[in-house]
Amino acid sequence: MPSSRDLSIELRISRNIVTKVFEQLLLEGFLSSKTGSGTFVNASVTPLVSKPRKNSTAPAKRRAHRSVIPRHTAFSHHSTNLEPIVPFQQSVPLFSEFSLSTWQRVSAHVNNNIQLLHLGYDDAQGYLPLRQAMCDHLRISRSVDCEPERMVIVNGARQALHLTVELLLKPNDMCWMENPGYPGATSAMNRFGTKICPVPVTDNGLDINFAIHNYPNANLVYVTPSHQFPMGSTMPLGERLKLLDYARKKNMWIVEDDYDSEFRYNGRPIPAFQSMDTNGNVIYIGNLSKVLFPALRLGYMVFPDADLARKFATAKSVIDGQTTILNQAAAFEFIHRGFLSRHIRKMKIQYKKNQDDLVRLLNLHLSDHLQPLPVDAGMHLVALIRDNSNSQEIVAKAAKKGLIIHSLSEYSLNKKIPNGLVLGFAGFKEKDLEMGVLLLKKVFG
Ligand SMILES: Cc1ncc(COP(=O)(O)O)c(C=O)c1O
Repeated sequence: MPSSRDLSIELRISRNIVTKVFEQLLLEGFLSSKTGSGTFVNASVTPLVSKPRKNSTAPAKRRAHRSVIPRHTAFSHHSTNLEPIVPFQQSVPLFSEFSLSTWQRVSAHVNNNIQLLHLGYDDAQGYLPLRQAMCDHLRISRSVDCEPERMVIVNGARQALHLTVELLLKPNDMCWMENPGYPGATSAMNRFGTKICPVPVTDNGLDINFAIHNYPNANLVYVTPSHQFPMGSTMPLGERLKLLDYARKKNMWIVEDDYDSEFRYNGRPIPAFQSMDTNGNVIYIGNLSKVLFPALRLGYMVFPDADLARKFATAKSVIDGQTTILNQAAAFEFIHRGFLSRHIRKMKIQYKKNQDDLVRLLNLHLSDHLQPLPVDAGMHLVALIRDNSNSQEIVAKAAKKGLIIHSLSEYSLNKKIPNGLVLGFAGFKEKDLEMGVLLLKKVFG
């Protein structure tokens, strides 16, 4: 290396700075010095050459087939790694009808008043004003019996399910699981070594008689009683009472996943199962992914008592401290100012139309191959395959045409599942649905 004096003259910086840099580079091992002979670049330091990983697939290549429809979001120009939203993706809201400007205003208000928020590690149970607003909303919209002390805000329903299995079950405990059912629940059970007991689903939801007869000693049951995922049935009052009674006698937990039933299209809204629980067996789980947007990652749990809620909050704090306060505060403002109820009212009308459009288009173009089963609630429907086509092959061929479809078998715990497809309708207006149906028609040939 040149002497520190020469270098400071050459670079026109103070010698002091050069000396400090030399000292730092010596400390980090990039330079070595020999007394009397000067400072040298350490011979053992070689430049790092970055080699591509052997089995990496370029994301652009992997996802190219999906981009038939341009993204609805305004972020597309500076985001290359986001999944495009294409028919018949399920569980995605219709983003073009979400008032982003309102959300931006509300978020700006939160950011402008940031000094009012606690910016350190906060209560893992969740932002109190949000818990209050959420309880008020759920009491009115879903008849949920709740107070903020019994609620915990989580990062989506998935986190709620993982915490539930972790805290309430021991390995090898038994859990009744709807079949077909939500894979997110199954994966939580698998993760903690729970014994999964597949229970068939009928027009009345989970087949309680089957479950009692075959697995009398289960510790927990996972149910989607207001809109069974993915079949769409609603559990009637008599079955609900039967399950509550059995759970009371057997001291069994009931986990109610009320993921999308705010969107009810026919008849009177069905109150949440939790509202009938007088014995403290039900844990109620819900989220804002469907009524607002999934990227928020906001979910909530309502417990029979405040002690259990604190226990869950403590476990959550071990994992991730707390759910992001800025999102919680923005969601609170959005709900508190009445935007959430207004948005849900608007989307109920829109989603009903989307479903009607999809059913009409399927009957018009694909009646030889598919029998759609319209639903009273939710954001997707099941279409049974009338011919002998294999649902998984249809799904794979549809993917090549840029469609995202799931086969019923993907939600199945055994082979006893009808041959069918799950088609999301909420996220797509008539034009996109029509394009999707015509592409699907080509797949059936
Ligand atoms: C039945 C069911 N429960 C829960 C969830 C997950 O919700 P979250 O986005 O809150 O994790 C989904 C997502 O699609 C779902 O279909």
